[in-house]
Amino acid sequence: MKVTVVGAGAVGATCADNIARKELANELVLLDIKEGFAEGKAIDMMQTATLLGYDTKITGVTGDYSKTEGSDVVVITSGLPRKPGMTREELIGINAGIVKGVAENILKFSPEAIIIVISNPMDTMTYLALKSLGLPKNRIIGMGGTLDSSRFKFYLSQALNCNPNDLQGFVIGGHGDTTMIPLTRLATYQSLPVTNLLDKATLDKVAADTMVGGATLTGLIGTSAWYAPGAAGAALVEAILRDEKKLFTCCVSLEGEYGQDDICLGVPVIVGRSGWEKIIDFKLTDDEQAAFNKSADAVRNMNSVLAE
Ligand code: NAI
Repeated sequence: MKVTVVGAGAVGATCADNIARKELANELVLLDIKEGFAEGKAIDMMQTATLLGYDTKITGVTGDYSKTEGSDVVVITSGLPRKPGMTREELIGINAGIVKGVAENILKFSPEAIIIVISNPMDTMTYLALKSLGLPKNRIIGMGGTLDSSRFKFYLSQALNCNPNDLQGFVIGGHGDTTMIPLTRLATYQSLPVTNLLDKATLDKVAADTMVGGATLTGLIGTSAWYAPGAAGAALVEAILRDEKKLFTCCVSLEGEYGQDDICLGVPVIVGRSGWEKIIDFKLTDDEQAAFNKSADAVRNMNSVLAE
């Protein structure tokens, strides 16, 4: 199996590191535009192979897409991250040009690849990749809800003082501070609804903390986070390459599902060897559906910038 990660920055390198440690691929290419940057990161990672005991060949390249040929999965992380006080949406102009160019180059050498989009604003970048590449919709996956759901479970675990791995929880909708929807009603701890275990004020705080989870870290670190985003990208690569048929929230093309059309937005999907394989209908309440529709309006508004 071969995986390419485009963008050897904080998120891309962390994603590659996780892919190598888990031995998800025998060949891993890290590509960046900055001269020598991906080469350096790849060599640094390869020098951990004997310490960590993995056998993945990692190659770093500066802009040479021919080295990515025949990739089964490509993860796009190239683009600017946000700085404190910035929204993900403010990155749209610059990152749209980067993501479109990268995706077109990738397709030339890996026409069968499944593409995972991480660059922000991710919902719009995923829609851009879908529209500009003309690939079957199941092969374009935006990574946002996977991370947001992981953050949701982190905050729930803090409130419950429990092991986060005993929790189920999903964040749907857009990957923006105001567009994501933590589905508190459906979150469970060892199959028990968390609504039975925590009071409303606590649950509201968990949801609010989740929504600004990324901004909180940007404020603390000075740039956007990378450990959880990189791990979330690698979790999707793992689900694809190992055909796990695992349930994640991912940003995918909607054609009437969840009442929306001509948009890419976060919904629960089964991820396996052919990409996202099936959308799961969580049967939203009227309030949840209204929040989802509002989120779709905001993302659609952002997508309209692409046409300008
Ligand atoms: P970074 O600045 O550390 O890395 C970005 C890398 O992309 C740089 O090394 C840069 O040289 C490279 N790059 C720029 N243009 C390129 C091109 N045309 N071709 C190849 N490489 C190119 O940024 P970081 O922190 O890794 O974030 C990357 C992106 O991921 C940002 O847009 C950020 O907002 C987004 N992000 C998305 C998340 C999500 O959940 N979807 C979570 C965290 C970050």
